[in-house]
Amino acid sequence: MTQEALRPAEPTPIGPQTFRIPVKIASLPFVFAGNIPYEPASIHWKLSLPNPDPDRSPIVGADLLAQKPLSPYDGDIHIAYITSDAFKLEEKRYQNVRGLGSFLLDNFLTYADINKFKTTLTCVWTGRGLSPGQLLTWYTKRGFVGHFDFMVRTPQAPNKNAEIARILVSLNT
Ligand SMILES: CC(C)(COP(=O)(O)OP(=O)(O)OC[C@H]1O[C@@H](n2cnc3c(N)ncnc32)[C@H](O)[C@@H]1OP(=O)(O)O)[C@@H](O)C(=O)NCCC(=O)NCCS
Repeated sequence: MTQEALRPAEPTPIGPQTFRIPVKIASLPFVFAGNIPYEPASIHWKLSLPNPDPDRSPIVGADLLAQKPLSPYDGDIHIAYITSDAFKLEEKRYQNVRGLGSFLLDNFLTYADINKFKTTLTCVWTGRGLSPGQLLTWYTKRGFVGHFDFMVRTPQAPNKNAEIARILVSLNT
């Protein structure tokens, strides 16, 4: 056997990947789609209505955007926004659906846990949806500490049953 054959294979670089899978939330069908970048960069995940017409843009029910913080001292990834616009959806059965925000946040935090990312956010009340108190409860329940201006969450044991955990396994990232 040659030296060449004994040399371990170079690790294959992990590229930016996209995913798009059907999910059910509150018994309603959605499409969970987004990107997985090389490193903490710009991550945009959406929950859209199933779209039978490929020529039309999908109707988004909720989305989450996370970005690399300006300073590394601020953590590894910063949730820039998370929003649910289910109430605006035309189809009545979708308008009062609950759980879209939690689905996105929980999957995002699983992604952060798998990658051991420290996650930060600024809790800003936009005047609709969860009240300021409900937002704080929502985040602190998931391990964020701090107050409105700056909340931080250190990585925890990942929830291997979250959709994103399965997606990452299937993408082999
Ligand atoms: C914040 C937001 C994204 C949450 O999304 P959502 O789909 O409305 O929320 P969910 O249905 O997933 O519920 C989120 C949590 O609030 C709880 N909740 C929802 N409605 C509630 C109510 N009326 N009273 C008390 N708790 C409530 C849910 O039980 C859930 O908690 P849990 O997952 O820990 O059990 C949404 O309210 C929104 O778009 N708000 C405006 C934008 C905003 O404030 N973004 C956050 C900025 S920091």
